[in-house]
Amino acid sequence: NEESSGSGEGKLTIGTEATFAPFELMEGDKIVGFDADLLDAIMKEAGLDYEYKNTGWDPMLVGVEDETLQAGMAGITITDERKESYDFSAPYFEATQVIAVPEGSDIQSAEDLSGLKVGVQNGTTGDEAAQKLVGKNSSDLSKYDSSAATMMALQNGDVEAVVTDIAVAQHYVKNNPDANLTLIEDEDNFEKEYYGVLLPKDSEHKEKIDEAIQTIMENGTYEEIYQEWFEG
Ligand code: ARG
Repeated sequence: NEESSGSGEGKLTIGTEATFAPFELMEGDKIVGFDADLLDAIMKEAGLDYEYKNTGWDPMLVGVEDETLQAGMAGITITDERKESYDFSAPYFEATQVIAVPEGSDIQSAEDLSGLKVGVQNGTTGDEAAQKLVGKNSSDLSKYDSSAATMMALQNGDVEAVVTDIAVAQHYVKNNPDANLTLIEDEDNFEKEYYGVLLPKDSEHKEKIDEAIQTIMENGTYEEIYQEWFEG
């Protein structure tokens, strides 16, 4: 049941950064996760044919902006700044930032980060949040290209803390008990965030994608996918 879109391309290419479990991770050469399942449900509902590609974070952002990619699905927070260059689908997940530290660390709130070596994924909302706390050009801020690299740096002791999305940090702590990490939440310093599908400005697919998200949220499909990845 394929649709030919206005610009004539049959298949949408959708980018991601697939080291962000449980949203997107590689299983062999397949991208799996909450986002992968949700995206599949959305695109089926919308009647759109697509290919989901592990492009990496920066290439995804560049690709959606220059429209060599037709979307990005990567736990991407809807922000005012990004809205200047992109469109977003309706929100599909609530998030916030959290600080991951080794067990026994003295850090108790976001304010304690100042002066410490902090790791973030470059160009994320965690990066922005950390910059506010340690200073924009602080040499204490280490930026990594992928989400996995930040957690690796924390485990290796290259950084003393990581600022990242709460569900990803919780998943990591749960699945890596030997890493001995604790999470620090701080609602005063970390705002609520909402994930959306990243789209080029004036994307011709936005309306269909939004309708599909609404349908999936109403007909139980969203709940099923949520259960599979978050309550399992
Ligand atoms: N939610 C954060 C942001 O939009 C982090 C997303 C990182 N996603 C990923 N697949 N590595 O900036």
